[in-house]
Amino acid sequence: MGVHRIAWLPGDGVGVEICEAARIVLDRLQIDAEYVQGDIGWEFWCREGDALPPRTIQLLKEVDAAFFGAITSKPARAAEKELAPELKGKGLLYRSPIVRMRQEFDLYNCLRPCRAYEGNPLNYREGIDLVVFRENTEDLYAGVEFSPVPPEVSSTLSRVSAAFNRFAGLPAEEYAVSCKINTRQGSEKIVRAAFQYAAEHGRKRVTAVHKANVVRATDGLFLETARSVAAEYPGIQFDDANIDAMTMWLLKNPFNYDILVAPNLYGDIISDLCAQMVGGLGFACSGNIGDDLAVFEPTHGSAPKYAGMYKVNPIATILAVKMMLDWLGEAEMAVRIDRAVAGVITEGRVRTYDMGGDNTTLEMAEAVADKL
Ligand code: IPM
Ligand code: MG
Repeated sequence: MGVHRIAWLPGDGVGVEICEAARIVLDRLQIDAEYVQGDIGWEFWCREGDALPPRTIQLLKEVDAAFFGAITSKPARAAEKELAPELKGKGLLYRSPIVRMRQEFDLYNCLRPCRAYEGNPLNYREGIDLVVFRENTEDLYAGVEFSPVPPEVSSTLSRVSAAFNRFAGLPAEEYAVSCKINTRQGSEKIVRAAFQYAAEHGRKRVTAVHKANVVRATDGLFLETARSVAAEYPGIQFDDANIDAMTMWLLKNPFNYDILVAPNLYGDIISDLCAQMVGGLGFACSGNIGDDLAVFEPTHGSAPKYAGMYKVNPIATILAVKMMLDWLGEAEMAVRIDRAVAGVITEGRVRTYDMGGDNTTLEMAEAVADKL
């Protein structure tokens, strides 16, 4: 039994091969850990009607951290079609396991560092070094959705909102409602996490991303909360921007930004943009961090068309391993991974297909391991 107990959740698609790559690096570091395999993914949805079975939830309660590969997700109706015959028609609803883990374990902080490693042919510009803090449990991801819209929902909305009048006469199946729910506490926690990180890592500036000029209730609350947390950190600059303008400015002047903090959906969008500026999803890692548990993953999905081909770039995964080691208190090992990744990228001898090379997933992992 190792010092660190880690739930190992490869999932499906390329999740399996990138987790093999992660283990090459972890094993070379000889980290004292026990890896406990957990069932998660599409096959468990099809067979059991649950992509995140209760036994895996139980496992997550018993570990220090979890490492997650990737999972295939399909829209609700397509998912229902692939269920085992005896499970069909039972009203089972497919919900993304990663979104469920984030919510069930209150992994409120989605931390997404996006740094351009020197010499990466895919860098939009050299020197970009952004960190995205994405609120991870609320907002349009709350899961409070109606399609068709039940009469009690439409009648309540008619009563309390004049703006709803335009929709009030529509038949229930002719429209849908997804609730954007943001709490003061959730907003405060993510903004505080961003400022705390800035203070601890010598970062100069935090920018809150929102659309408070139009989405006044929820984004207004987020912005107001961000301003009040910012006042507690006078040494760190604070500003804010609308999500639409932000995407333009980030491309135009990436060096004007440092740490970005956003509600869930804007954070999802902006973190893909930031990822693309530093080489794309092959370089983007995520930590889903709560107070008691954290789940680390590459930001990319399961890429079913590449599954089993050992083609995808494992650097995102290896950087997620680095984040996990930081969380486990293994800072020195985390620095070694960072240097090894930087070394392999700058040298440019080993490159996966996305970087214009023809090395495999595992060759890239071995190259990083050799540099540790
Ligand atoms: C991400 C992904 C997920 C999300 C999907 C796979 C549910 O896009 O982690 O950014 O929307 O959060
Ligand atoms: Mg995303």
